[in-house]
Amino acid sequence: MKAVLCTRLGGPDDLEVADLPAPTPRPGEVVVAVKAAALNFSDTLLITGKYQIKPELPFSPCGEFAGVADQIGGGVTHVQPGDRVAGFCGFGAACERIAVDAARLVKLPDSLDFDRAAGIPVTYGTSLYALKDRSRLKKDETLVVLGASGGAGLSAVEVGKLMGARVIACASSDEKLALAHKHGADDLVNYAQEDLRQALRRLTGERGVDIVYDPVGIAYAEPTLRCMAWGGRFAVVGFAGGEIPRFPANIILLKNCDVVGVNFGGWVNREPDRYRANLSTLMSWCAGGRISAHVDAVFPLEGIEQAMRLMTGRKAKGKLILRPKGEN
Ligand SMILES: NC(=O)c1ccc[n+]([C@@H]2O[C@H](COP(=O)([O-])OP(=O)(O)OC[C@H]3O[C@@H](n4cnc5c(N)ncnc54)[C@H](OP(=O)(O)O)[C@@H]3O)[C@@H](O)[C@H]2O)c1
Repeated sequence: MKAVLCTRLGGPDDLEVADLPAPTPRPGEVVVAVKAAALNFSDTLLITGKYQIKPELPFSPCGEFAGVADQIGGGVTHVQPGDRVAGFCGFGAACERIAVDAARLVKLPDSLDFDRAAGIPVTYGTSLYALKDRSRLKKDETLVVLGASGGAGLSAVEVGKLMGARVIACASSDEKLALAHKHGADDLVNYAQEDLRQALRRLTGERGVDIVYDPVGIAYAEPTLRCMAWGGRFAVVGFAGGEIPRFPANIILLKNCDVVGVNFGGWVNREPDRYRANLSTLMSWCAGGRISAHVDAVFPLEGIEQAMRLMTGRKAKGKLILRPKGEN
């Protein structure tokens, strides 16, 4: 089978497409014929050795996928051969077949296509976990989403809207903001042009912001924290901007707010049943048209270098999908 391989740490141009023996399932595992795998920003870090998880070389990137269950290992009861499934695997899905822990898989509604399903587990999974389980978002609260047109950001716009929030989307261009608006954002802030703190004051007045969803970090985190409402929740999701923000503890005290960490992968390992429940909800929301799982572009496995460059160049909008050729 064909697989994208990272054989040495480096950039997207160091990745290779290689022929590997097809995997067989161990007890508790399922081998899935991958129809679509999705890229995340974390893949661009994983291949350079700068991500929190450091897989042994060689490894295949892509932490989420959708496909058809093929071979079933001993002890697996909730998946049968031929089932259409999707799941989160951390890394390893940029290939034609993957052996994966059955606890990571959910079945897909018949009407949901593989491309959109593949892009749901990490970004939407993180956003639902961040907004429902970690930040306890309530209807009519105000949610600020930074990097609102990226994979994680756009999913937070949609999930927040579905949960009844007023969503303020923040991004670096009007084109990106137009996409966030199309996906449900109520108010828009171009932080490349307008001072973020002043814009949030203008939009939320004395009350401030109830929830912040931050996958970007850098210079946007602190001004946003300074706009929190009494009892607000600031969800730390990621650092796509490259710098890890520091928070002044006095602002957290004065605002009487919570800064909540969101470690989706760690949570999946600890609470697989709740992860599967959330993921099944998201799959049925997508099949029912309540979330979009917007696909920006589809590439063959050989196109992974180009896809990763879109991400590192701050040009990806929504999800980038890889489709193994042999399987479609
Ligand atoms: N905590 C978790 O469990 C979890 C789960 C999923 C993702 N994440 C993290 O969330 C972050 C976003 O992931 P993603 O897959 O949504 O990425 P993405 O699709 O590439 O989006 C990232 C967004 O960040 C902004 N950005 C600012 N500076 C950037 C830079 N130098 N390079 C790239 N983007 C930059 C961009 O928006 P603007 O141009 O509008 O600023 C971009 O749309 C990553 O750090 C990822 O590791 C964490």
